[in-house]
Order: sequence, then structure tokens, then C-alpha cells
Amino acid sequence: MSEINQQIVLNSRPDGWVTQDNFKLVEGQIPEIGEGEILVRNLYMSVDPYMRSRMNDAKSYVPPFQIGKVLEAGVVGEVVKSQNPKFKEGDVVVGMLGWENFSKSDGAGLLTVERGDVPLSYYLGVLGMPGMTAYAGLVGVANLQAGERVFVSAASGAVGSVVGQIAKIMGCEVVGCAGSDDKVDYLVNELGFDRAFNYKTCGSIAKTIAKLCPKGIDVNFENVGGEIMEAALWNMRDFGRIALCGMISDYNAKDMTPGPRGMGLIIQRRIKLQGFIVFDNPKLNMEFVQKAIGWLAEGKLKYRETVAEGLENAPSAFIGMMKGENFGKQIVKIA
Ligand SMILES: NC(=O)c1ccc[n+]([C@@H]2O[C@H](COP(=O)([O-])OP(=O)(O)OC[C@H]3O[C@@H](n4cnc5c(N)ncnc54)[C@H](OP(=O)(O)O)[C@@H]3O)[C@@H](O)[C@H]2O)c1
Repeated sequence: MSEINQQIVLNSRPDGWVTQDNFKLVEGQIPEIGEGEILVRNLYMSVDPYMRSRMNDAKSYVPPFQIGKVLEAGVVGEVVKSQNPKFKEGDVVVGMLGWENFSKSDGAGLLTVERGDVPLSYYLGVLGMPGMTAYAGLVGVANLQAGERVFVSAASGAVGSVVGQIAKIMGCEVVGCAGSDDKVDYLVNELGFDRAFNYKTCGSIAKTIAKLCPKGIDVNFENVGGEIMEAALWNMRDFGRIALCGMISDYNAKDMTPGPRGMGLIIQRRIKLQGFIVFDNPKLNMEFVQKAIGWLAEGKLKYRETVAEGLENAPSAFIGMMKGENFGKQIVKIA
């Protein structure tokens, strides 16, 4: 095998917004494998908001990326060499590997998937971690019931677009917000949201939600935090639930921002707020994948990707996604 292994390492920790300087492209040899190991040619990798937190030197539910070390991502790849009896050459695997052309692994945490009816990149999005997150938050955390009213922020993205569609499948009313008119149009006219708005141009977000959700919100699937979360809070119904999935509006902030105002409403309206991590309930994740394969086949679940070409473009894909340049799930095609 004469190819070079390009890798992207963390060059420095960001101070506020991530820049290209925080990444470095290096070239190395394709790793040799030993007993129990496999060599994977990486085909697609995912860039996700949680990576921003891993770029900080801070304790979290996953360890921080290390300066000078290859960054990690969700990857779909093909096994090209195997000295591990669980995998054979040609298998397609999904799991956490490197921002690189070839990764060596002992197979821990890797799942084998079939080459079938769905594009392999879907295992990083609608059939992968973001899709599982949508289901885990709606079903596991918010205990969504048919007929309820759901509000979701970052609604056209990897998680939000699945949230809205699952809620519709479950017989709920869904309102979402996104950062461009094209995205708003997509939510209503392609994904079947009942109503949606552009949070950048709507004026008061709280008043817009009040207008579009006149009976209030039973379940807020919160992806953004900050002003949008506060506006949703003002519109919650009694005994409403907030599934606190992400707070992307904060991820690049240099200082901790104060929480949303109006927290007293949580008491007055007996609201339940729960943060969650997608991997809290693996059984629910598997349940979702089974259902989602069916929904995709039936055309009930639609899915859109923005695909950056080439490993060298992974940093700009990541930075762009954090700024809302992605439409649907942001993927990087490596090979
Ligand atoms: N808890 C978990 O286990 C878990 C798992 C996966 C994801 N998440 C969280 O879920 C959220 C969505 O993740 P994703 O993978 O689906 O990403 P995504 O929605 O595909 O991409 C991020 C989107 O966030 C929006 N955004 C960025 N900054 C914003 C701001 N200041 N205000 C409003 N919107 C902003 C942008 O869309 P617009 O153009 O609409 O602004 C951007 O496209 C993130 O907060 C992420 O951390 C949590």
C-alpha cells in the first residue's frame, strides 16, 4: 500500500471562535497492524458541535482532544486489513476513529454495517448519533405524547430535522426555528413542520413563538440555549418538559454566559428540565435505528446532507457548521 496517511491534529486550543490555525494537516505512514487489530480506510467522517467542547482543556463526559494528537470523529470506513477474527477485509465499520485517511483499531466500539439501500454516510447522521439523539430526547427524556406541541431550535440541522419529523410521525404539532429563509422553507414544505421561523430576522423570538404556538409548548427540544431557550421558556405550558440537548450558542463564548432569565417559570408552570447525552440509553438508540430504517424506506423520514470533499476540508466544514453554513447534516467525504 503506497498511499500516505494524511491526518489532522489539534494544533492549538481555540480562544473563542475556532480558526484554521487550531488545526494542522500532517502526513504520516499508514499504520502497521498487530495481533487483534484492523486497518480501516476512512470513507466519511462527521463534524459535530460537541467537538468544540473537546477542543477546550476541560473535564467533561468525554476527554479533551490533546494538542499534537489526531482529532477523533464518528467515521464510516472499510476494513482493508484484519488480524482480528471479528472483522474481515471488506467489512464496513462505524465508530470513533481519527480525522485521517487510515485508522488502526482493536475494534472496540466499532459496529459492522451492511452495504445496502441507504448511503453509508447516513450512519453518521440520520441512522447514527444525531438521529439517536433526537429519539432519545423526545421519547426517553421528554416522554412525548401524541397530540402534544413541540418546539425545536436548530431545526434544520442533523438532530433538529429528525426531532421535528419524529414528532410529526408521533402525531404532534411541531414548530421550529432556523437561521435562514431557505431552511425555514425546507422545514415547512419538505419536512412537514406545521410552522417555522427565521430567528435572525423575526424580531422578538418570544413573541414569534407565542404567535406560532398560540396554545404554548408542551415539549421544548433545546439545541441552542441563550436567547432562543429563554424565548421558549416564556412559552412553555404547565407541566411542560424541556429536553436540554445542546447549547450551541454558547460553545464559542470566551466567558460563561448567564443562564436564561425567567427560571422562576419552571416553578410556576411545574416544568421538568433534563439534560441528556445520547448514549445514556443504548436500548433506545437501537430501537430508534430499527424504526428509522423503516421510516426512511416509507418516505416518512427525509434527510439532507452537506458534504465537504476531502479530509483537508474537514476543518472548514467544522467551522462552517458551527456558523450555520451546513444545510442538514455536515459530513466530510474522505475517500
Ligand atoms: N446531548 C447530546 O447527546 C447531543 C448529541 C448530538 C448533538 N447535540 C447538540 O444538538 C445541537 C445540534 O447539533 P447538530 O449535530 O444537529 O448540529 P446542526 O444543527 O446540524 O448544526 C449546528 C447548527 O446550529 C445552528 N446554530 C449555530 N449557532 C447558533 C446560534 N448562536 N443560535 C442559533 N442557532 C445556531 C446553525 O443552524 P442555523 O442556520 O439554524 O443557525 C447550525 O447549522 C447542538 O447543540 C449539539 O451540541 C447534543
